[in-house]
Amino acid sequence: MHNDDIKMDKTMSAEKLINQIDCTESELVVAWQSGRVSRYHWLWLRDNCPTAFHPITQERVFDLMSVPDDLTASEALLTDEGLKITWLGDAHTSLFDLDWLQANDPAFADIAEVSDKACEIWSSPAQAQAIPDESYDAYVTSDAVLTTWLQALSKNGLAMLRNVPTERESVTQVAERINYMRRTNFGITFDVRSEKKPINQAYTADFLPLHTDLPNHETPPGFQFLHCLENSAEGGMSTFADGFAIANRLRETNSEAFDLLCRYAIPFRFHDEEQDLIVEHPVIRLNERGDIHEVKYSPHLASHFNLPADVMPAYYRAYRAFMTLVQSAEFTKTIKLNAGDLVAFDNRRVMHGRTSFDPSTGNRHLRGCYVDRGEVLSRLRKLS
Ligand code: OGA
Ligand code: ZN
Repeated sequence: MHNDDIKMDKTMSAEKLINQIDCTESELVVAWQSGRVSRYHWLWLRDNCPTAFHPITQERVFDLMSVPDDLTASEALLTDEGLKITWLGDAHTSLFDLDWLQANDPAFADIAEVSDKACEIWSSPAQAQAIPDESYDAYVTSDAVLTTWLQALSKNGLAMLRNVPTERESVTQVAERINYMRRTNFGITFDVRSEKKPINQAYTADFLPLHTDLPNHETPPGFQFLHCLENSAEGGMSTFADGFAIANRLRETNSEAFDLLCRYAIPFRFHDEEQDLIVEHPVIRLNERGDIHEVKYSPHLASHFNLPADVMPAYYRAYRAFMTLVQSAEFTKTIKLNAGDLVAFDNRRVMHGRTSFDPSTGNRHLRGCYVDRGEVLSRLRKLS
């Protein structure tokens, strides 16, 4: 079918939006007034016809295999109700809302996936003071504040709340204002303080190198929340680094190292009396578009690398190149958390750690929990 065959019953609204439509063998091409050209494959259009979805659940009920492989349209008509498509090879007519079509151009459909491209990556000196923050009161009472804070958290990967009541349940209240929490082997919430019989490095007074939490899980938690209840001991400064910025720098300066950290998985392990959780992950994971999507890194949970002998020397070189960047002052942001401060960060992006502290000089007590990435982004979509 050619362009001439298309009946153009242009209405005012269609005219405002669309310059021209064109039907080829495989797709509908729409030239919008905005200048953008969108391409919609015929099967895509049929599969996303409004009638393809259950009216209440909005889940797809259409069987894609009920139409032929080479489905095309016999007619595409701009009417005042929208774009009407009569199918060839399927006794059906589809009606598409023009705004919907424009918003759902498959080439631009943005599901706000976390990546180095979609986020604002940072290194420390450029943004020494710039951790976005809000007061707890505004956060719990205003949806507008919650929205801007979540937007800042998802873009920057790190945000703070101030004047959070120093109660045990506060961190839960902060997290549950967003969505349900992620349970792990440390519970739904956990206490971080120096313990006599620590089950992990965080529960000591020792220096804790920059790391992401729980890379020994199949999907390490998305966002982490740490609420400071007390921090009167000497030391115990909090450190943060943007893992996407570090991975990005490695990609620019040492592509061989970057590729090795993406290509080979290493095992991470946590074990105590109850659990022996081991999972392999690459340190850097790209999404299918090639953007940096996740970083998993923990010097204390990395287990014995089980790489082919021929790969081991190059892998260690690559891993140490990454560690050099992690340990450099350029990427490290250091702050002292005070009682009432709460820090939230994307645990598959931003690394955290702390300097050692002296328990004989005072107490240090944080309470933490996690809400996964998908649940944070879901809340943001619902808010906006
Ligand atoms: C943790 C952790 C940091 C701190 O509990 O996972 O890294 O400041 N804590 O104690
Ligand atoms: Zn940690």
